[in-house]
Amino acid sequence: MAYLLKKLRKLWKGLLVLLGLRKRHRDPPMWQHAEEFLRLYPETRPRTLVSIDRCFMLWQLARHAATLPGEFAEVGVYQGGTAHLVARACPGKEIHLFDTFGGMPVTDPTIDHHVAGDFSDTSLEAVQAYLADCPNVVFHPGLFPETAAGLEDRRFAYVYVDTDIYRSVRDCLEFFYPRLVPGGVLVLDDYEWPHCEGVKVALTEFMAGKPEVPIITARYQCAVIRHP
Ligand SMILES: C[S@@+](CC[C@H](N)C(=O)[O-])C[C@H]1O[C@@H](n2cnc3c(N)ncnc32)[C@H](O)[C@@H]1O
Repeated sequence: MAYLLKKLRKLWKGLLVLLGLRKRHRDPPMWQHAEEFLRLYPETRPRTLVSIDRCFMLWQLARHAATLPGEFAEVGVYQGGTAHLVARACPGKEIHLFDTFGGMPVTDPTIDHHVAGDFSDTSLEAVQAYLADCPNVVFHPGLFPETAAGLEDRRFAYVYVDTDIYRSVRDCLEFFYPRLVPGGVLVLDDYEWPHCEGVKVALTEFMAGKPEVPIITARYQCAVIRHP
């Protein structure tokens, strides 16, 4: 009975909102007091596919990682939105940016929903121009992991992987996980997003037998924090 009354009250309130007789109550967003994020995000928004809640988590995790030794990396830069956010938030960190800058590489139709050439509405020159105010970025254009050659001795505190397809996510995990510093974070986009099934499959396979437990940081985003 109490349950029914609660439901009826909710329906009644919904009806009043629909009729314009009552304002919908929404909790303020988590980033309401994050002044720096609120200042940087408007420049990010037009150049990213990543939602504001996920961008907010990237900003927070990057700031956490900036207190650790180790460099930063992002694989899957596309038009540069999330790279710009993190580069501006952490000017003291070198950020390695990996992408073909010409669209998705060959995909595997047995697991990927994307096809080669998706996200080709970008270019290295355009992203370099957009990131011209970030002297801390280093570009690695081409196919990852080939473009990571020469970085084998580096250690990373923050790695953001937004590559959408199984093979690329797996390659990123294999390259970066062993190079994370203790407390370093590797964030994956599109975790449990139905259009990118390969992300979760790659992470689940890769983490089997490893001590860290992946953390869902926002809808469709997941992070691994490296144990000491
Ligand atoms: C969804 S977009 C990235 C979105 C971006 N982070 C943003 O802020 O909107 C995915 C990108 O991953 C890149 N990509 C996927 N696999 C790759 C690989 N193996 N090497 C280089 N780039 C890759 C594609 O070229 C594409 O630009």
